[in-house]
Amino acid sequence: MDDRSTQKQRAGQYAGNLGYFSRPHYLGRLRLWFFLAAVILSIGAIITYRYWGKDDLFIKGALSQGHARLAQDCRACHTDGQTDALKARLTSSRDGHSLPAIVGAAFTTNKSGQDSPHAPASLAMDQACLSCHPAFASHLPQTSGLSLRTVATETVSVHAENCFVCHREHVGTARMALPDASQCASCHGDSDKLALHRHSQPLANPPIQATGQNVKLPDGLVSFIAPSQTNAKPVAFSDFAHGHPAFSYETAGLKDPAKIKFNHQRHLRPDLAGTSKDHPLNCTDCHVPGPGGNFKQSVTYEQHCQQCHTLQLLPSLPNLRIPHHDAEKVRWFLASVRIPVENAIRAEGVTGTDELKRRADAEMDALQRRGLRTLADLEQRVFFEGDPSSSRIGASGAKFLTDCRKCHIVAPATADHAPAITPPNMAMRWLQKGNFTHQPHSHMACVECHGAAKTSKDTADILIPTQKSCAECHRTPQTGAIPASAQRAQAADAGQSLAAKQREHGGIKWDCHACHVFHSPAAPEPARK
Ligand code: HEC
Ligand code: HEC
Ligand code: HEC
Ligand code: HEC
Ligand code: HEC
Ligand code: HEC
Ligand code: HEC
Ligand code: HEC
Ligand code: HEC
Ligand code: HEC
Repeated sequence: MDDRSTQKQRAGQYAGNLGYFSRPHYLGRLRLWFFLAAVILSIGAIITYRYWGKDDLFIKGALSQGHARLAQDCRACHTDGQTDALKARLTSSRDGHSLPAIVGAAFTTNKSGQDSPHAPASLAMDQACLSCHPAFASHLPQTSGLSLRTVATETVSVHAENCFVCHREHVGTARMALPDASQCASCHGDSDKLALHRHSQPLANPPIQATGQNVKLPDGLVSFIAPSQTNAKPVAFSDFAHGHPAFSYETAGLKDPAKIKFNHQRHLRPDLAGTSKDHPLNCTDCHVPGPGGNFKQSVTYEQHCQQCHTLQLLPSLPNLRIPHHDAEKVRWFLASVRIPVENAIRAEGVTGTDELKRRADAEMDALQRRGLRTLADLEQRVFFEGDPSSSRIGASGAKFLTDCRKCHIVAPATADHAPAITPPNMAMRWLQKGNFTHQPHSHMACVECHGAAKTSKDTADILIPTQKSCAECHRTPQTGAIPASAQRAQAADAGQSLAAKQREHGGIKWDCHACHVFHSPAAPEPARK
């Protein structure tokens, strides 16, 4: 077509073809078909692999050591196949700014803007984890909940994050790394989030006395229980040295409820009768560490008091001891006192019947001369007065018979019963919600933690250290901290100066894991009543 053609001639060429620009070019059409074919083939391929292909084609990274054999069976965790893995990824709340996290947030946030404890897609994977690890469903409060269920006013359970938030899979063939403390802080630093994850059920137990009570828990240990602060909002805090709750026995107004009279200050004095200046009574003379260095076994009369506070009926028969531990047995003993007197004489090697009778008569006369004629006289002396009644240990004519009332709360006798002794019921355990063992602290002097014992005159004083005192060492490291690996080794020989150094530098086991586990070892159990 040349330039000389008229406008009309040119227009004529397009007659009947005026929509040419809206019709696809055949090349363009080809491109569309290719695209559609590619999409269909891809979907086909995915479906093919989804049902017939080998799982590990989708693998993201190697499975950890414990799960290695599941490489053949991705669906052990990805119960719904690949889709679930993707959803799992989307609902993972690990990094808040990644696209999946942002998209995921749209699905998993509720009104308060916090992660829902039950994001549906990831719950399916949690169920898969739990099918093989059924004991790991609950967070720790369940543990103290179980042991405290006979005394607590509520039982708390916590459905924490999805398992994979803390246990990252597909990151290498080693064991899965345990989560760092930031996982704990993500919740424990946020009181709204704590409240959201906390599920409480009331228990029908009578309230604990306002000053605290010693109770034998199902684990068999007599434990000090502070009155619970029900419905208190969980406290958020950043770490052990900053805002961690004080230990429960620190609440003002609490008292050691043990029903035994004991004055620490007096017994620790270097001039205590029955001890020498060079060897005053030591904490460990009475508090013997049990297995693992703990002091859970109680002080006993026989091992720790008897040597000075004897229960001798007759000074002339030192081996004749009034039975301890059972007031009724004491009544039986006193009611027919001639029998044990004769036995004690026999035990001294006297065999002849006449000799035995003569000695026994003499001892019975001695009792009479002390005014002990009837059972009532004897009981009054043994339970309430002691003998000689005025004297104390160390004074001339030292006491050979300590009255039960010196150490115990004793009710008056009745015709049917011997004077009743209130059981001492000393606490063997003061902490319920965290572990403490004495063993790693054996480089410290007892009074560094139990300094109150030196001045305490009354059983009611609580001598257990405060949370703040622990945080002097258990806090984030300052420069110059002693490397963790060296701490135990040095502890053996460096003595107290090491403790001072530790206080100065901190850096000792300050993360939550040092003192707490995350999982409740027991399977959840429905609350009773
Ligand atoms: C022991 C459980 C477990 C097994 C077995 C397992 N996975 Fe996973 N997988 C996970 C967890 C947990 C995630 C979430 C990942 C995350 O966010 O860390 C995940 C995520 C994924 C993702 C999501 C993509 C991504 O980048 O996050 C893919 C894909 C995947 N897995 C593929 C596989 C394949 C393929 C197999 C089988 C060879 C397999 N998985 C076996 C636990 C498992
Ligand atoms: C088919 C059963 C099965 C499933 C499903 C499963 N596990 Fe395991 N898991 C095991 C076995 C078996 C071990 C190894 C136990 C051992 O070493 O004592 C293990 C070990 C572990 C360990 C400790 C080992 C380590 O690497 O630290 C953790 C943590 C763990 N699994 C978490 C999970 C989580 C989280 C899921 C879900 C995403 C899951 N498991 C799903 C069977 C399973
Ligand atoms: C998803 C939130 C969440 C995460 C993550 C979390 N916790 Fe908790 N935790 C709670 C809640 C809620 C309670 C109950 C608080 C209460 O009863 O006042 C609790 C209670 C506790 C208790 C008290 C136990 C008891 O017997 O009462 C300890 C100890 C504890 N958590 C330690 C940890 C440690 C260690 C980690 C990290 C491995 C962690 N928590 C991670 C929510 C969480
Ligand atoms: C003569 C034996 C004796 C000696 C020595 C002794 N204690 Fe005790 N201790 C007792 C008795 C008995 C009890 C139980 C009565 C009570 O709670 O006061 C007790 C209780 C305790 C308790 C737990 C009860 C509470 O209220 O906190 C602590 C802690 C304690 N003693 C620390 C010490 C320390 C530290 C020393 C050394 C400075 C020491 N004791 C020396 C006999 C002794
Ligand atoms: C010097 C102090 C002292 C004297 C005196 C004393 N006791 Fe005890 N008694 C103790 C101590 C300490 C305990 C707790 C440790 C133990 O069981 O040995 C105890 C425990 C008891 C118990 C409780 C046993 C139990 O299983 O709970 C009874 C009952 C008892 N004594 C009776 C007596 C009687 C009866 C007398 C007088 C004949 C007496 N005691 C004299 C110190 C004393
Ligand atoms: C080393 C000797 C010795 C031992 C061991 C000993 N005491 Fe004492 N105790 C004394 C002396 C000395 C006194 C002061 C004089 C007195 O009251 O007879 C005393 C006084 C007491 C008093 C009266 C306190 C006061 O302030 O009036 C009680 C109660 C008591 N002891 C209980 C116990 C108990 C319980 C044990 C065992 C856990 C025990 N003692 C172990 C030597 C000892
Ligand atoms: C690092 C601080 C620390 C040091 C050092 C320490 N204790 Fe304790 N002690 C504690 C704490 C915390 C408890 C409460 C533990 C519990 O009962 O749950 C306790 C509890 C006790 C109890 C009560 C019974 C029990 O086992 O719970 C006795 C008795 C006791 N300590 C004696 C001693 C003696 C004796 C020494 C020195 C040899 C000593 N302690 C050193 C911190 C310490
Ligand atoms: C003078 C410093 C010091 C004080 C104060 C102190 N601790 Fe420790 N604690 C240590 C040392 C050192 C270790 C051993 C660390 C190690 O093995 O790496 C330790 C270990 C522990 C452990 C065992 C951790 C484990 O992994 O086995 C617990 C739990 C603990 N302390 C709790 C407490 C409590 C509770 C208090 C307060 C009553 C307290 N500590 C006070 C120095 C201290
Ligand atoms: C040095 C040891 C130690 C460290 C570190 C530690 N705790 Fe504790 N924590 C304890 C002890 C001991 C108790 C028990 C107090 C009681 O029973 O009265 C406790 C109690 C708790 C309680 C229950 C408080 C209450 O009154 O109900 C929570 C929640 C808790 N810890 C969370 C944490 C978290 C989260 C971390 C990490 C940031 C952490 N703890 C670090 C020793 C520790
Ligand atoms: C807030 C973090 C967190 C969450 C969420 C969590 N775990 Fe754990 N898990 C831990 C810690 C920390 C340990 C180490 C032991 C302990 O503290 O109880 C652990 C230990 C384990 C172990 C034992 C590992 C070993 O070495 O023996 C298994 C199995 C396990 N968790 C499974 C699960 C399962 C299943 C879920 C989900 C229902 C889950 N975890 C959720 C933090 C978590």
